[in-house]
Amino acid sequence: MKTARTVAELRAQIGEWRGAGKRIGFVPTMGNLHAGHFSLIRQARESADKVVASIFVNPSQFGPNEDFDRYPRTPDADAERLDREGCDLLFLPSVDEMYPLGVGSRVRMDVPSLTGILCGASRPGHFDGVCTVVSRLFNQVQPDVAVFGQKDYQQLAILRHMVRDLAFPIDVQGAPTSREADGLAMSSRNQYLTPEQRAVAPLIQQTLHWLAGRVAAGEGIVATLQAARARLADAGFEVDYVAVRRADLAPATEGVPEERVALAAAKLGNTRLIDNLVFVPAL
Ligand code: PAF
Repeated sequence: MKTARTVAELRAQIGEWRGAGKRIGFVPTMGNLHAGHFSLIRQARESADKVVASIFVNPSQFGPNEDFDRYPRTPDADAERLDREGCDLLFLPSVDEMYPLGVGSRVRMDVPSLTGILCGASRPGHFDGVCTVVSRLFNQVQPDVAVFGQKDYQQLAILRHMVRDLAFPIDVQGAPTSREADGLAMSSRNQYLTPEQRAVAPLIQQTLHWLAGRVAAGEGIVATLQAARARLADAGFEVDYVAVRRADLAPATEGVPEERVALAAAKLGNTRLIDNLVFVPAL
């Protein structure tokens, strides 16, 4: 596996591959890679000849009181594992390389219909930072295919909207959420959990299944959401939101047999966990 630390090095290698008619697949990450990331690499490989991964802990998507400083950084172990997984090129830019005019002077991006709801409501500026860094990476890598995890459901919806609206010629693919044996969605942040918190963490996914089952069977959304929040709060979660939306994240309509997604974000101590479940009501 080759490693590029600058945009110039990255473009030189990708230019060579493009000249040889290769299709480029891309997996952007913030590192501290786990099995979920490697499934994205494998998916990218299925649609491309060469796979590029980036590792960049992006400061512009963290709020002032969030975990940017303590976000786990394990670049050597990540590089070794990416190499074994058959990744062809690792892009490891510095903050200055990604934000040559400074993070504070960057061009900002907004998807007004999608960034103010759900995670965006409690993490102001987060999706601006995600869109900003992903659009830069897309411009630098110019991939044919990019793969993102469906665990970050709202992020994926926003990035699809951005790609369509800005006419990036990129096939954005979602990859199924990788889970631990007890159902907890894999995340680099799971390692912050104490053993006691880790034991209750799978309740998020269990609650989403419970919620989707009831709503799918025709129970009222508002009352069921209230009960779902209470289940999580009783187990010690500080609930940010539990929601049922249409699959495109527009508000769900009672009694309509549309594809829906149940989503939750909740904290255990300082660790914020998210998860989602797509379902269709049997109305
Ligand atoms: O999902 C992530 O890991 C990040 O939000 C991403 C897409 C790599 C942008 O920094």
